[in-house]
Amino acid sequence: EVYRAHPVHVQHKHPDLNSLQELPESYTWTTTQPQDQTNNNNLNHTVPVIDLNHPNASNLIGHACRTWGVYQVLNHGVPITLLHDIQRLGETLFSLPSHHKHRAARSPDGVDGYGLARISSFFPKLMWSEGFTIVGSPLHRFRQLWPQDCHKYCDIVMQYDETMKKLAEKLMWLMLESLGITEEEDLKWAGAKGQFKKTCAALQLNSYPTCPDPDRAMGLAAHTDSTLLTILYQNNISGLQVHRKGTGWVTVAPVPGGLVINVGDLLHILSNGLYPSVLHRVLVNRVKQRLSVAYLCGPPPNVEICPHENLVGPNQPRLYKSVTWNEYLGMKAKHFNKALSTVRVCG
Ligand code: SIN
Ligand code: FE2
Repeated sequence: EVYRAHPVHVQHKHPDLNSLQELPESYTWTTTQPQDQTNNNNLNHTVPVIDLNHPNASNLIGHACRTWGVYQVLNHGVPITLLHDIQRLGETLFSLPSHHKHRAARSPDGVDGYGLARISSFFPKLMWSEGFTIVGSPLHRFRQLWPQDCHKYCDIVMQYDETMKKLAEKLMWLMLESLGITEEEDLKWAGAKGQFKKTCAALQLNSYPTCPDPDRAMGLAAHTDSTLLTILYQNNISGLQVHRKGTGWVTVAPVPGGLVINVGDLLHILSNGLYPSVLHRVLVNRVKQRLSVAYLCGPPPNVEICPHENLVGPNQPRLYKSVTWNEYLGMKAKHFNKALSTVRVCG
């Protein structure tokens, strides 16, 4: 049921959410079930929080990936000041007047710029959020948005990008180590040695304004990320939920200074399904604007990703075909949450 999305490719208009006093019909989701979370059962389940300085961090991460597909990290080495800088940048950006933000609007087929959640076209209802995506060099888009102040903001974005890239690489190796893949030479999937160092990334800023009728609205509909891994910073406002088999929706409570790490679809494939990508969504509230910054991290776009040979054997049949990130994004655009099953080996 939670996987249901309509591949309808609706073209939605984008009003200013802050100006709406009531939830319009076009934003009313009948499938939102925030009451799932009040089920006491779920309150006993919390997403693992892992200290990266723990001597056993790799095993703890492995366990979290197998059983949740998501975890939070502390002592990750990202300065709290940088997290606050990017948060302030997001707040400033989303509080700009609509016409100003629309100057940086994403084009209908584009990936970067300002607009509705990129997954909107798969759903008949609108989501209570706005997003700003930066792919590759941020300078161009930032000049459009901040003709005067570009320098200040570009510096933060570039510093964030550099810092997150390092963390992504560290986490990726910890996750691979927990799968028993310890040598760079082992990474046959990466084509040539050292390829993995060239991870590619996009930065996605999300704002969830206060909502007049949060129980019937949806901030961001359920999806898995088309990445190897995603590093998510959330301000201290709840809203993110992850779906766990047998448990249901569980809120990822913000941990001060913590970062949320999602297993994405490509790591799901690389791990031959051992680390399932996590289905997640965002609920909204009446009182506080929520802000999040997702660092979406994948391999170079044309490198073949397939289940690692160490994880395939007589007792572990290979479950997925090879696919490049580019190809996978194409499948996601067509099949959305069913994309993983289209690369599954039949039989
Ligand atoms: C996302 O899934 O892209 C954003 C999640 C969040 O806002 O917490
Ligand atoms: Fe996501």
